[in-house]
Amino acid sequence: MPEKISIPLMSGNISLNDFCKLIEFLKSAPIMTQSSQVRAFEEEWSAWLGKKYSVFVNSGSSANLITMAALKHLYGLGEVIVPPLTWVSDIASLLHLGFTPVFCDINPQNLALNTDQVLQKINSQTKAVFLTHILGFNGLDDRLINTLKEKQIPLIEDTCESYGGTFKNKKLGSFGLASNFSFYYAHHMTTVEGGMVSTDDEKLYQTLRLLRAHGLVREATDQNLKEEYLKKYPDLNPDFIFAYPAWNMRSTELNAFLGREQLKSLDANNEKRRKNSELFYKLLSSEHYQTDFDFEGSCNYAFVLILKNKNKNLLDSIKKSLKEADIEYRQGASGGGNQLRQPYLREIFPEHYKDFPVTEHIHFFGFYIGNFPELEEEKIKKLCALLNVLALKEERKT
Ligand SMILES: Cc1ncc(COP(=O)(O)O)c(C=O)c1O
Repeated sequence: MPEKISIPLMSGNISLNDFCKLIEFLKSAPIMTQSSQVRAFEEEWSAWLGKKYSVFVNSGSSANLITMAALKHLYGLGEVIVPPLTWVSDIASLLHLGFTPVFCDINPQNLALNTDQVLQKINSQTKAVFLTHILGFNGLDDRLINTLKEKQIPLIEDTCESYGGTFKNKKLGSFGLASNFSFYYAHHMTTVEGGMVSTDDEKLYQTLRLLRAHGLVREATDQNLKEEYLKKYPDLNPDFIFAYPAWNMRSTELNAFLGREQLKSLDANNEKRRKNSELFYKLLSSEHYQTDFDFEGSCNYAFVLILKNKNKNLLDSIKKSLKEADIEYRQGASGGGNQLRQPYLREIFPEHYKDFPVTEHIHFFGFYIGNFPELEEEKIKKLCALLNVLALKEERKT
């Protein structure tokens, strides 16, 4: 029986100091519904990211949905290129809105969309490329960015798992027409539940503001836009003009207050995660596990563990030993692996999952393990020693 190492997927993401500050905030009997804290959090987030506008919502999935809804209302329906290794809401948002998802496999070095395949699949129907930066790795390259610019196809960055990461020293999430973030507890920082959409595009920003709150025109900050609707619909009460068939995806002052506190320590915490990650991949056996990721600009809240070979025995012994050592893990890396294997997509594309061998390998032979700021060096060393011994043992058996 291996020694208990005890590594949860995430720990200490809300500090005692955060709780105390929240209590102080509540003692002031503040407004609780979306108000000045939300506005301040949006402004501070935009400044941190280097974008003009941000819209705070109640989850990363809501961020995905209103981004794609805004694209639909502004540019119309068509095809959207997505990876099969992503979160369910990246694809579900397309299906709900009537976009056609077009899948490309991933690049094994950064686990994001394979640029060659994306460029092959772009056509006159392509409305956007919806790229996911996986578990802290940068998924962008110049070829993709430049081609999309040339062809005027919007890039949407799902940055829910990778904020703090960079490409060419510029923050991930600052390249696309819009970028989405999640502040769920297990991410780089948290508002318990929460998400953000950031953009430089004024028109998109106004549309996102409306879509977040029932489609209400009064949510716009652009006076001209409001007046256009008032002129066109004189029979309607100005407080109740619903421009779009939308949802309520607002968050609250409490979540925004927590987000503002969390943002203050995000960069320092990410630095600790970077150090942990460096140590993990330095100690991990490169003979048995993938260690040749493209680490430049990465900022991982999880250690991505991918077996080099399709060794089922090693896979089983890792799962058993991690459980015994009280180390939490998720198999399949981001979103549980190949989304095309999931029931909701099997109904539409029954056999399509077979067409993506890199994603398939990660689905079965990939894991992630928690990497958080307070994780002790000693535990990382023990974890790597455990994984390396398991690989050697399996090798000896064959
Ligand atoms: C890549 C990615 N996109 C979107 C989401 C959805 O975020 P949320 O859980 O806040 O809805 C997640 C969730 O973890 C994610 O990993």
